[in-house]
Amino acid sequence: TPSELLRNFCIIAHIDHGKSTLADRMLQLTGVVEQRAMRAQYLDRMDIERERGITIKSQAVRMPWAIPDADGVQIPHALNMIDTPGHVDFTYEVSRSLAACEGAVLLVDAAQGIEAQTLANLYLAMENDLEIIPVLNKIDLPAAQPEKYAEEIAGLVGGDPEDVLKVSGKTGEGVEALLDRIVERVPAPVGDAEAPARAMIFDSVYDTYRGVVTYVRVVDGQLNPREKIIMMSTRATHELLEIGVSSPEPQPTKGLGVGEVGYLITGVKDVRQSKVGDTVTNAQKPADDSLGGYQDPKPMVFSGLYPIDGSDYPVLRDALDKLKLNDAALNYEPETSVALGFGFRVGFLGLLHLEIVRERLEREFDLALISTAPNVVYNVTMEDRTEVEVTNPSEFPGGKIREVREPIVRSTVLAPSEFIGTIMELCQSRRGTLLGMDYLSEDRVEMRYTLPMAEIVFDFFDHLKSRTRGYASFDYERTGDQAADLVKVDILLQGEQVDAFSAIVHKDAAYAYGLMMVGKLKELIPRQQFEVPIQAAVGSRVIARETVRAIRKDVLAKCYGGDISRKRKLLEKQKEGKKRMKTIGRVEVPPNAFIAALSSD
Ligand code: GTP
Repeated sequence: TPSELLRNFCIIAHIDHGKSTLADRMLQLTGVVEQRAMRAQYLDRMDIERERGITIKSQAVRMPWAIPDADGVQIPHALNMIDTPGHVDFTYEVSRSLAACEGAVLLVDAAQGIEAQTLANLYLAMENDLEIIPVLNKIDLPAAQPEKYAEEIAGLVGGDPEDVLKVSGKTGEGVEALLDRIVERVPAPVGDAEAPARAMIFDSVYDTYRGVVTYVRVVDGQLNPREKIIMMSTRATHELLEIGVSSPEPQPTKGLGVGEVGYLITGVKDVRQSKVGDTVTNAQKPADDSLGGYQDPKPMVFSGLYPIDGSDYPVLRDALDKLKLNDAALNYEPETSVALGFGFRVGFLGLLHLEIVRERLEREFDLALISTAPNVVYNVTMEDRTEVEVTNPSEFPGGKIREVREPIVRSTVLAPSEFIGTIMELCQSRRGTLLGMDYLSEDRVEMRYTLPMAEIVFDFFDHLKSRTRGYASFDYERTGDQAADLVKVDILLQGEQVDAFSAIVHKDAAYAYGLMMVGKLKELIPRQQFEVPIQAAVGSRVIARETVRAIRKDVLAKCYGGDISRKRKLLEKQKEGKKRMKTIGRVEVPPNAFIAALSSD
């Protein structure tokens, strides 16, 4: 297809504003998916993925759409709809997908208005110089307020509220007009057809049958089947076994030219050989410069992952190896913990990434896991100026420390204005600094804060939601780091450090953390034949202490007479517990105690 007849666009939206439903309707209206074959969320196809255990998600779909020219002659165009991951954890991936487009449909739920991810994605689209097409969705809903939110959007992206399209992905109303608008407004791609080939990788997925499927957008030149190609960041060469477009089923083609979007198959088995953001060029006639912007995924949040049943360790290792084939950002190494046994220290792009990985491990590999509290990466400078990067609190250095730096984020909270006070209170308690506040409409505000990343990785979002009865939305981006007064709190059982419970916290929060952990452990650690002190300490200074008093062996002692079945249960429990007791120093601890202490409540 000549590039002047191509249109590359994506849909950006807050979660649940109806992106998948709208995409489905477009597939149907353009005729690429027949009415009969149509089912909800064709592009997601998770059911098939699960059934066959493969990933065939369509990252980019090509659809025909014709609009009349000045003389009323229908001119056929080809639209490439490129899927973008919606969440901040994947900001880099989002921005690469956006870089493959010239336009973006900014989709907003007509009953909800703009939310935090709407903004985050919009800003990324603007940074990539995309033509923005604002659209209100779900106008069929009785609660829709298209007029109000058209104002809100126009205020944000500029332009006339009248120009905001109003559609329903559900009923199909307005969707044809939207397709017309995409052809009219989104610029055709431009590139140099004679130059050496350069194509940007915006996604790559592992498929059990076909190996890695790499999605690219050709910028200059042309890629052809059977050619040798080079991945410019690694200089690795591969042969192009197949090249084609998804419509939405894969259709091999004779090549991809300027502005075209499609897939490549080279037979490699690991997505790390085909990295998002990298540039593909021709090995015979290579380009001098890559397209730029390539960046290795960098883990931001670390957590220890341990199988609850220690014999599952090999299963966990294999499972991580498998997931890694499809997740270039996943990063792990073996770790042992006195309290939890053998496991892995795993690095993630963010909290959502952590949750997805953990859920997949549990669901797809049938593992029961315990994870240690997530922590960010700290940079510690010692008095002698050596620097240490700390990804595990128990490895926080002990010597003379000059400075500790922690990552910070720039965050956006959107909420009804009645919640301003409570949001400020929450952000202040998390060491936040207010950067600014704007009213999106009379009753909705956007608040911008810088916050230490460590303060949001744990339960910030839960607190925000409960304080605002679910009405607030939240988004953040990493912006840099800052020095802070941070200390390591250790938890000791009879003088022995329990590694999994060490935490790096702000000095002002050390006491509260220590108190909470020793309190929890006191409830969870059974009495022993001797007294067990549980202490929280910063360095050698004890900041909190509890004691589990000694008892005689008789576990029934505390059940004065009473219920016989309860006594039997206790005895059984004790037997079961003995099998898998862990010992810290001389103290016997049921493994469940550590697990219970680590689960947040
Ligand atoms: P994620 O894929 O989870 O990010 O969500 P999404 O933005 O793709 O939204 P999705 O298409 O899954 O739609 C979210 C919910 O809104 C679903 O329950 C849809 O049925 C519903 N929905 C989507 N579009 C419309 C619409 O035009 N009208 C109405 N009434 N409901 C809609």
